Amino acid sequence: MLDLTNIRDELRAHYDLAPSMELAQSMSEIHARMGRVMPMIDWAVHAPYVAAINKLKRERNAVILAHNYMTPQIYHGIADVVGDSLQLAIKATEVEAEVIVQCGVHFMAETSKILNPAKTVLMPDMEAGCSLAESITAEGIAQMRAMYPGAPVVSYVNTTAEVKAASDICCTSANAAQIVAAMESDTVIMTPDKWLAQNVANQVPQKRVVWWDGACIVHEQFTAQDLRDFRDWNPGLKIIAHPECPPDVVAEADYAGSTANIQSWVETERPKQVMLVTECSMASNISDSLPDVEFLGPCNMCPYMQKITLEKVLWSLHTMTGAVEVDPEIAAPARLAVQRMIDLSKRLAG
Ligand code: 13P
Ligand code: SF4
Repeated sequence: MLDLTNIRDELRAHYDLAPSMELAQSMSEIHARMGRVMPMIDWAVHAPYVAAINKLKRERNAVILAHNYMTPQIYHGIADVVGDSLQLAIKATEVEAEVIVQCGVHFMAETSKILNPAKTVLMPDMEAGCSLAESITAEGIAQMRAMYPGAPVVSYVNTTAEVKAASDICCTSANAAQIVAAMESDTVIMTPDKWLAQNVANQVPQKRVVWWDGACIVHEQFTAQDLRDFRDWNPGLKIIAHPECPPDVVAEADYAGSTANIQSWVETERPKQVMLVTECSMASNISDSLPDVEFLGPCNMCPYMQKITLEKVLWSLHTMTGAVEVDPEIAAPARLAVQRMIDLSKRLAG
């Protein structure tokens, strides 16, 4: 566990991190990307960290890959690349910098390391896990293979390197249905997300999809009744869900897709009012670029994603600690499963 008191003292000894309205105003072009969700007074607290990280990032030849669920100060303030899991995995294959700082959860950093074994991949907080990744081990994959002999295993990228290594191919929420449809076998094993698997089964009825009993603790909290209530209160409301939500929730939505696809849908359709049935940082991050759209709905935050803070990012770059390592014997087969997904995904996209 990180000792935050010690980290704070050490960082204050090296950087000027006192809140500063003057600095915040001098960095107003960054603030303008999140002004709708962040008052200037809060930006004055974050700006010194953003300035320090951006300077250190250049000195360390580092690039910051950030998931769409990061806080606005990370997403708009320090990230070089933002995106969904598929975009971040593809981007990780193209990084030239020596160091990757992964602002997201641990399986994302592991994926970057698997794809870039020679680079240093820093994880600002090793405890940023994922309920899906924690729900299955390689032993679970072996059990599924024993139950459905010959069926290919399609594992969500939200898994450990060990599980990826035991799988035939990976998928993300952006390509799961296409990957399952492309499998030659009639029966396809999907792990570890039972809700994603059931949503894919509805999209790909020609396959018999069987699944592991895992779930995302953020998306399984939404109910179809919540969505109906919001529609009753706000006629005309558009509802967009992430496919980690249960199928009855997805059925109530106007559209379902990965976090990047959710963003593209809202950018294209420009609904007057929209509810994003996903982690609530997503709406905060895109709301300034869509001033004519009103975002409403409950705010469910991912406790794992929220472990990543500016302070911890600065600490990892300052000390170059938190390097993610993957045993080369596991990394090699895991890389095959991720690369097969990337290649198939690019081929299917034409
Ligand atoms: P995306 O690939 O859609 O960004 O989802 C990742 C994730 O963890 C969602 O909970
Ligand atoms: Fe995992 Fe759900 Fe958090 Fe995504 S939102 S990292 S799936 S727990």
